[in-house]
Order: sequence, then structure tokens, then C-alpha cells
Amino acid sequence: MEGQSGGCEERPFHVVTPVLESMALSEAAGTRVYMKLENVQPMGSFKIRGIGYFCQQVAKKGCQHFVCSSGGNAGLAAAYVAPKLGIPATIVVPGSAAPSTVKKLKKLGAEVEIFGKVWDDANTRAMVRAETDGWVKVHPFDHPLVWKGHSTIIKELRDSLDAKPGAIVLSVGGGGLLAGVVSGLQEVGWMDVPIVAVETKGADSFNAAIKAGQLITLPDITSVAKCLGAKRVAQRALDCASECSIVSHVLDDVEAVEAIERFLDDERMLVEPACGASLALLYSGYIQRLQEEGRLSWQLDSIVVIVCGGSGIHMEELQTLKRHLRMK
Ligand SMILES: Cc1ncc(COP(=O)(O)O)c(C=O)c1O
Repeated sequence: MEGQSGGCEERPFHVVTPVLESMALSEAAGTRVYMKLENVQPMGSFKIRGIGYFCQQVAKKGCQHFVCSSGGNAGLAAAYVAPKLGIPATIVVPGSAAPSTVKKLKKLGAEVEIFGKVWDDANTRAMVRAETDGWVKVHPFDHPLVWKGHSTIIKELRDSLDAKPGAIVLSVGGGGLLAGVVSGLQEVGWMDVPIVAVETKGADSFNAAIKAGQLITLPDITSVAKCLGAKRVAQRALDCASECSIVSHVLDDVEAVEAIERFLDDERMLVEPACGASLALLYSGYIQRLQEEGRLSWQLDSIVVIVCGGSGIHMEELQTLKRHLRMK
């Protein structure tokens, strides 16, 4: 499982993504920032790594039908790999899912069921559908095979950077990306690299769990970053905090959406609010604040931000988000 760079297993569905230095993000963060461009993956996000690997493995074990609960990128990844494996897919999406995503899922040949309001509702329904004989539930973030697939991000970073980074910035929804990054760091011996785990207010179930020292179920998801909207993170995400240094940070929707716009101007790439959250950490001066608070070292040679991407965004949706948040 080594991306396109080799490996003894079958070819993965994901591609090895570029690592580029960003002048604008470096200037904002006060240190060199590298972007790991997961937005250029098939289906527009890192999700293809873990979901692709999971589906490949269960296909070998005789899975006859995938059922995935996801209002967005995980569902798209499952729908993308299913026909390549010759297995049908049902994607259960919550009512909050973007109509454009539902359209895309259908175009990929998946059966789409719309159920409930937020991801947790759709997930409950997917569990029922997965009781059918031969059907396998594809969890969008809570499975060791999914984390193993995501961990390839770190192996690629080790291969493309001259030195290990001073910190890694990433967004947290259910915590699958976080768990994958931690397992990658363990594999390459970079356990001392701190992770800044970013969420938006109203989707901050990881921060709530860190503060409480146990999993917390949020009453509702109120953030516009719907892809970060798991009411409760995976237990593994919380466990990661005792295995390496994780700084949990919550910022607001307006900052995440402002970051999307700045990133579009600076790098000419359009990403979802889920990704805007990580970019906002750099644009809005939080790195320096975390350094002042002693939560991050002043000696950061470089920072890697995982540009997790997301395909549930287009110009019209960006304008709608701005109107909704009363932004100029
Ligand atoms: C674009 C994007 N970024 C970040 C996340 C959060 O990932 P995780 O649920 O693995 O924490 C998601 C989840 O769907 C996503 O689609």
C-alpha cells in the first residue's frame, strides 16, 4: 500500500498528491507552509485513500454490495470505486447533503437514499440496510482499514520533504483522517510531530471529547462545514490524543469561509468549508497565538497543511454560504 510509488498489493485508487509551498499561507503563518494537495484526488478529497483501500480489501473477501452513510466525500469515494470493483453501492445521505452531490452519486451509478437530517441519522439507516446478506457497511471514518488507507499521506510526505515538518494541520470530522495521520506518523517514526486538529463551532465533537476526556455526543450539527458534522468522533480519535501531541482548535464558520475565498485568490483552488477550517487556522493568525500560549513551539521549521479538499462546493454554493453567514 504505497500509492503509485510501488508496493506489493494491487494498484490503489488514490494518486500520490503534490506537496507545494504556499507563499501566501507561509506569510500568514510566519513560517514555511507546505500544502499536501488532497483536493486533487479522484472525487476531490483524501477520502479515496481510506475508502478505496477498505473497499478493495472487503471486495477480496466476497462483499456483494457496499452501503455507505455519507453526505459527501466518503460517499463519493465509495460510489467511485464500487463500479471499478464490479460491486453495486448504496449511499445513504442526510437531508443536509448538497443536491449537486446527490446528482454526482447517481451519475456514478450508485443507488441514493436520503434519510434524516444529519450524518448520524443516515448512519443509523445504513446500519439497517447493511444487515442484508452479502452487504458490507463502508464506514466513512471509523475503521482500521480506512485509517490504514489515509496513513499513506504521511508516507508520501516522508518521501517528498527534505526534513520532517514542525507541525501538521488537519481538519477533524469523525476523526478518520486524524487516526490515519497518527498511524502514518507512527509508521515513519515522526511521533514527535505535533498535530493541530481543527474544527468549526457547531461541529466540534473532537474538542468536546478532548475537554471532557471521554466521547461526547453533540446535540446537533449547526456549522456550515457539514463534512465535519459527526455528532460524536470515533473512540480511536480520542485515543490518538494520548499517543501523540494533538492541539485541538475550534474556529467559526465565517473564518472557514473567508479562508476558502482567500485560498481561491491565492492558490486558485476551491475547497469546502471542512477544508477552509484548516486554512483559516493559518490565515487567521492562530499559529502565532498557539505559539504565544506555549501550545506550539516557536521553532517551527515548516508546517504541513492537509488540503483535504471536498467536492461539495462551487461558486454559487460559496455565494449562498456567504449570504447565510451575512458576509460581504
Ligand atoms: C473534505 C473533508 N475534510 C475533512 C473531513 C473530516 O474527515 P474525518 O471524518 O475523517 O475526520 C471530511 C469528512 O467527510 C471531508 O469530506
